[in-house]
Amino acid sequence: MTNSINIFLNAAKSILDKTFMEKANTSTSLKEIYPFDYESSSFDTKPIDNLNKLSDDLGILYEEMIPIKIKKDLGQFYTRDSSIVDSMVNELDLTHGLILEPSCGSGLFAVRVVKRMIGNAKEQGLSAKDTIDYIVKHLYLNDLDKTATEITEINILATMLPLIIDSFSSFGYFSVSKMKLTNYDFTQKGLFTNKFSIVLGNPPFVTLYGKRSRNMNEEKRAYYNTFDFVQNKSGNNKFNVAMFFIENGMDSLCQSGKLFGSKL
Ligand SMILES: C[S@@+](CC[C@H](N)C(=O)[O-])C[C@H]1O[C@@H](n2cnc3c(N)ncnc32)[C@H](O)[C@@H]1O
Repeated sequence: MTNSINIFLNAAKSILDKTFMEKANTSTSLKEIYPFDYESSSFDTKPIDNLNKLSDDLGILYEEMIPIKIKKDLGQFYTRDSSIVDSMVNELDLTHGLILEPSCGSGLFAVRVVKRMIGNAKEQGLSAKDTIDYIVKHLYLNDLDKTATEITEINILATMLPLIIDSFSSFGYFSVSKMKLTNYDFTQKGLFTNKFSIVLGNPPFVTLYGKRSRNMNEEKRAYYNTFDFVQNKSGNNKFNVAMFFIENGMDSLCQSGKLFGSKL
């Protein structure tokens, strides 16, 4: 599976690269502007007009490729109802503070957040370059699955591509900083030193049954029992992974920060 996923990711990056070069009318590769690594040589991909479709399709395709056992163990069921994503993200004040999505999957929420940030920046008269810098600086995206964060990265780049082209046309050369993407296990405490104004997303809903769960062992249970929400600290407790996301999410907030979640 790893090989076919690498081919799939490389092809998506190649499409993005070709689209950038055609629309910016340049022979400069997107790789020279944004540090994403891929082998461009073996793909005869074409530029595309509908970048939104690229982001929609990538997540769907990847979800289809995940073996069912892994999908269940990691709760990898992406939010397909865009009206839920929209109604949640439309509630958020995205004008200040850091934002964390601890289980971003293919980036459905993240892309919507980026679109709203772009809208806000336009209203404030920010330049394309300042808008990109703001997004990259304020958005933190995490998922245990590295392929998922790579897809999120591609999807956000696709969403920001018109701004990248605009800045490139104005400045000739400029660079975009690497996005803040991590692959932490968010059931662990104290992963982020920053505090966030918003923690959002659709966490994994996976039940961990005390002794019966194949994903549970003595060491893990002892660690999980240290969480504040656990009442019987020495019990053989049944947990749901989402519980750790809620406690860790709340602990990651700054004083006036807000936690937003959905269960689908
Ligand atoms: C229900 S999906 C939601 C994905 C995305 N937020 C969405 O709405 O489409 C849950 C995500 O949590 C990730 N995940 C599972 N266990 C995790 C863990 N311990 N730490 C971080 N991410 C995890 C999975 O890889 C999956 O992408």
